[in-house]
Amino acid sequence: MHQVKVLSSEEILAEELAKEIALKINSSANSLKPFSIALAGGSTPKLLYSVLAEKYAELIPWNFTNIFMGDERCVPFNHPESNFGMIKKALINKIRIPEANIHPVKIGAEPEEAANNYSEVIDSILPRRDGMPVFDLIILGLGEDGHTASVFPDRPDLINSKLTCEAVRHPQTGQCRITLTFPVINNANAVFFLVTGEKKAAMVREILNEKPGSEMLPAKYIDPVYGILVWFMDENAGRFITP
Ligand code: 6PG
Repeated sequence: MHQVKVLSSEEILAEELAKEIALKINSSANSLKPFSIALAGGSTPKLLYSVLAEKYAELIPWNFTNIFMGDERCVPFNHPESNFGMIKKALINKIRIPEANIHPVKIGAEPEEAANNYSEVIDSILPRRDGMPVFDLIILGLGEDGHTASVFPDRPDLINSKLTCEAVRHPQTGQCRITLTFPVINNANAVFFLVTGEKKAAMVREILNEKPGSEMLPAKYIDPVYGILVWFMDENAGRFITP
């Protein structure tokens, strides 16, 4: 089961999602529980991260928050395509969060080693359920080909991977990526998709269409076992969705 929230603009969407994230982290902190969030890369979430930095720097207990990456490109953090580099610039550099709460993927080792290392970091910090780490919240984007995190249509094996993270190659560019696998994403307490823009509207319709389609669209396989799934989108991305 999932909820769909269509907001009238990217700005209002970012404000609404930031508010939901703040509510979740504060509720966790009120019970003195650390909150683990895995953030999406790409371009869509930049506005969300800026709103969190500008409006919630003092309103979210960042000392209770552990920031992880949902996926990462195997490039240095100062590379324009680095997801952590983008998140550091848009959010982390603007909030007071303990260094120990920030968990980038340690790029530099061989991809498989980087994936194993990241799996060990995650497994050493997060509680477990069904033998897998439990994130409190995972933010996901959606590619026009139906990929999410860095699980692309050519890697259906990641849907049932036994690992927490795996190293993959972008099917078009060949770029090395490290990604959370779907069993771990589907083990989260909450998964929020954040999708904007007309270009994504057709894929949003495909993914949310209950009828099983013919192609392998990875985002269709995001279905939390215990947690909630909410699709946050602007009107452009949701133009084919009936409320
Ligand atoms: C990445 C992301 C990826 C992204 C989608 C959408 O590393 O690129 O994690 O899954 O969310 O490709 O990207 P845009 O937001 O740039 O459209």
